[in-house]
Amino acid sequence: LDDYKASLSKIDTSTSHPARRYNYLLGGKDNFAADRESGDELVRAFPGARESALANRAVLQRIVGHLAAEAGVRQFLDIGTGLPTADNTHQVAQAIAPASRIVYVDNDPLVLTHARALLTSSEEGATAYIQADLREPDTILNCAVLHDTLDLTRPVAVMLVAVLHFIQDDDVVNAVVRRLTDALPSGSFLAITHVTWDFLAPEVLAQVRAMTDAGRVDAWPRTREQVQGFFDGFDIIDPGVVPTTQWRPDPGTVEYDLRNVAAWAAVGRKR
Ligand SMILES: C[S@@+](CC[C@H](N)C(=O)[O-])C[C@H]1O[C@@H](n2cnc3c(N)ncnc32)[C@H](O)[C@@H]1O
Repeated sequence: LDDYKASLSKIDTSTSHPARRYNYLLGGKDNFAADRESGDELVRAFPGARESALANRAVLQRIVGHLAAEAGVRQFLDIGTGLPTADNTHQVAQAIAPASRIVYVDNDPLVLTHARALLTSSEEGATAYIQADLREPDTILNCAVLHDTLDLTRPVAVMLVAVLHFIQDDDVVNAVVRRLTDALPSGSFLAITHVTWDFLAPEVLAQVRAMTDAGRVDAWPRTREQVQGFFDGFDIIDPGVVPTTQWRPDPGTVEYDLRNVAAWAAVGRKR
């Protein structure tokens, strides 16, 4: 309860925040006026913003489903969790393998206040939540909660889904990914989705770039090559680094207009 109260007192509702703006774009209710204004501004500049958010959430669920069902992964470290929605990582994984164990990490205090919805584990498995910043990977790796829940001598899937693009500095982001993946044994998985401007129409690109330069968007795009670079020491599994909508789409899925899909997705297995 003390954690909860301390978290509430840290919530700043006057400026937009990634977790709440994303929740707004997904059609959720856990957001404030500043998040809605920021989301609307983004949609005006980039009409595919909602579609991109939905496609990102959907690929997260397909990746977890694939890892649990096809790759036999039973441990997940989901960093940049976001506000809970219907099928969070543990629900998707535990529906396939009830003994799956999941640690969630986010730095937004609002996510912590919703953590109860993330901690509804199956009896056979486990879920835990750590409030920490991805930019401080050692805080995550040294946390007792992590080691109480996951066995880092056995394969773990690290989920960095729509979170790395909040770190602007390439050296910092590369060091963070390297530190986290160095801590995992061979056979572990790394799953990444990442905002890109690679497919944007020129007029949309100009508007999004103007918003970003003015400091009104805080997601820093990366190219396909940069996303691929995160997988040093990993074998990227099929279908490779692809737009989120093209990562193992469910049969019968309608083709998206790529100009509305502003993110890459990829999953790799550690050698
Ligand atoms: C766009 S949401 C993605 C949520 C979820 N992974 C998904 O794809 O549906 C990004 C999340 O990353 C969190 N986040 C952003 N920067 C972070 C950081 N430095 N450390 C930890 N979490 C961060 C935000 O608070 C937010 O919940």
